[in-house]
Amino acid sequence: MRKIIIDTDTASDDAVAIMMALRSKELSIKAITVVAGNVPLDLAVKNALISVEKADTYDVPVYRGAQKPLFRDLVTAEWAHGENGMGDVNLPSPSKKVEPENAVDAILEIVSNNPHEIELIAIGPLTNIALAINKDIETMKKLKVIYLMGGNGLGVGNVTEYAEFNYYVDAHAAKIVSDLGIKIIQLPWDTCLDGVYIKDGDIDRLNNINNSLGKFSVDINAGLIALSKKNYNTNGFVLCDAGIIAIAIDPSIAIEYHNASCNIIDEDNEYYGQQIIESTGSKNYDICTKMSYQKFIDLLVELLS
Ligand code: RIB
Ligand code: CA
Repeated sequence: MRKIIIDTDTASDDAVAIMMALRSKELSIKAITVVAGNVPLDLAVKNALISVEKADTYDVPVYRGAQKPLFRDLVTAEWAHGENGMGDVNLPSPSKKVEPENAVDAILEIVSNNPHEIELIAIGPLTNIALAINKDIETMKKLKVIYLMGGNGLGVGNVTEYAEFNYYVDAHAAKIVSDLGIKIIQLPWDTCLDGVYIKDGDIDRLNNINNSLGKFSVDINAGLIALSKKNYNTNGFVLCDAGIIAIAIDPSIAIEYHNASCNIIDEDNEYYGQQIIESTGSKNYDICTKMSYQKFIDLLVELLS
């Protein structure tokens, strides 16, 4: 079984990703580490605990990580995910408790005890991962691979025209992770726009799943649905984080990749957080430039059923 750590700033699309990962027979989730991003850390931790319980599979330890970026102030996204990060759905407090150990130490311990076996799936700002690299780069080089939702890839951003949210919140961290040099399989924002935009008819498919997990996944993404109506005048929503989980579970969902090296702009200017594609260097990035929406949505429905 593949050994996975998920690092997340748990809000509505992260929650669906976590449920998918836990319900997949392909993956064994060893830890969920939480970072501030979409919402402040305490809320992200609460949402992660709720997501593990909602998945209704096996228990996974959840660890608290960084409550702010390495150097800059925290930028959150309640405007997209709702004040509670979960579409402002009234959710019961989880009975599950967060672990006492810090997320960074947990990541290092698990990777050290499982050299070259751990697949890290990062679906939030990369602050925890960068802190782990800063603390013990030799251990972090023993990661098998990093799957990452984030970055503008070969296109535009979603916070500024240059930067995607996870990179924009902490570009310093994104640069440290990028420069580690190990294989990164990236699902950038621009690929998500076609690859994981849940269309109208498929919202009905999710709502009609008999165990209510589909309806839960739609309801907590009410903020993203409202945003889609406002920005594109369409009924649907972009499930970015679910996309990289789907690619990790079934690599055939990714149809095209662009292999490259990348530099991340971490200077304090308008380009902060931009991912610059370079053709020289370690070329450690496999950037997914096209994915199968149909395979993605079918896997999502299958895993939530
Ligand atoms: O840009 C989308 C990404 O930023 C997703 O991971 C979303 O959850 C937010 O963290
Ligand atoms: Ca996220």
